Amino acid sequence: MSDGLRVDRVVHAFGDRVALDGVTCEVPAGRLTGLLGPNGAGKTTLMRILLGVLPADGGEVWLDGRRLEDVHDRRSWGYMPQERGLYPAMTAGAQLVHFGRLHGLPREEATRRARELLEELELGDRWDERTDRLSGGMQQRLQLAAALAHGPEVVVLDEPFAGLDPVAVEQLSAMLRRRADDGCLVLFSSHQLDLVQDLCEDIVMVDRGRTVLAGSVSGLRAASGQRRLRLQLASAQRGWVQAFEGVEVVSDHADDLRLTVPPQVDPLRVLDAARACGPVLDFGLELPTLSELFLAAVSAAPAREVVR
Ligand SMILES: Nc1ncnc2c1ncn2[C@@H]1O[C@H](COP(=O)(O)OP(=O)(O)OP(=O)(O)O)[C@@H](O)[C@H]1O
Ligand SMILES: [Mg+2]
Repeated sequence: MSDGLRVDRVVHAFGDRVALDGVTCEVPAGRLTGLLGPNGAGKTTLMRILLGVLPADGGEVWLDGRRLEDVHDRRSWGYMPQERGLYPAMTAGAQLVHFGRLHGLPREEATRRARELLEELELGDRWDERTDRLSGGMQQRLQLAAALAHGPEVVVLDEPFAGLDPVAVEQLSAMLRRRADDGCLVLFSSHQLDLVQDLCEDIVMVDRGRTVLAGSVSGLRAASGQRRLRLQLASAQRGWVQAFEGVEVVSDHADDLRLTVPPQVDPLRVLDAARACGPVLDFGLELPTLSELFLAAVSAAPAREVVR
């Protein structure tokens, strides 16, 4: 089983355009890691460098304490590129057997795994269907199956959820979860932040070629210091809020009051103050969503010219 990937100050420029400007991060095995960032942030470039299909101009990639040199060091990895690469005229089944055999599986094992994967993706009845006669979402699922055809321990997927319906999203999520629980290292990029928040243990967020946020989803949400207290109050009196320095009203509609509570203020003291003025019908402490963290991290990064 793998310990994890370490990406150390990876740099890449396409001509004058700097796509990666010293990305550093760690991707542990046995967990799901989401790679996030706005369009053009450098996610695909980073994944291609991780895979060794694109050389880095600087920096290093390590796996299990060993520095990776060339594409042969990643031969056993599973990769789903953002631009899809299936053979349109080949049948779904033949395609998966082909990818399994490319990675050195004997024909019988490649065939068995291909059947299992198509079943897992609910494409079992499409074994003999030409790839170009599958719907877009089905082709997407087949592409994922192609990345997993040889049972890789390291799986890198570039936007595997794009274009999938909610049922397929659930299926794919469960599949990736099973791989991570089995000890695989799974890194995928996505723009669906709600999904990443629910699914991933860890995230790496890049913006303009740099890591702007990385760590566990729960830790980052808790550490942001942007807690909100939601109160449903019988009383319309709000004067007590002023007593807390740094506590600000986000919204105040009818009996529903939302406040930001900075780290130095104990939210239970705020709740006590509210209770002293009348009954509290409902309350809750909310952490910022991953979307909010994303927007804050991306807009907080200093505006930089990325052209050298
Ligand atoms: N082959 C290429 N030649 C020149 N520039 C490129 C090439 N590939 C990517 N870039 C540039 O590198 C930067 C990062 O692109 P990249 O594809 O890595 O972004 P991304 O984070 O994957 O974006 P998206 O969310 O849109 O997929 C962009 O400015 C892009 O224009
Ligand atoms: Mg991309």
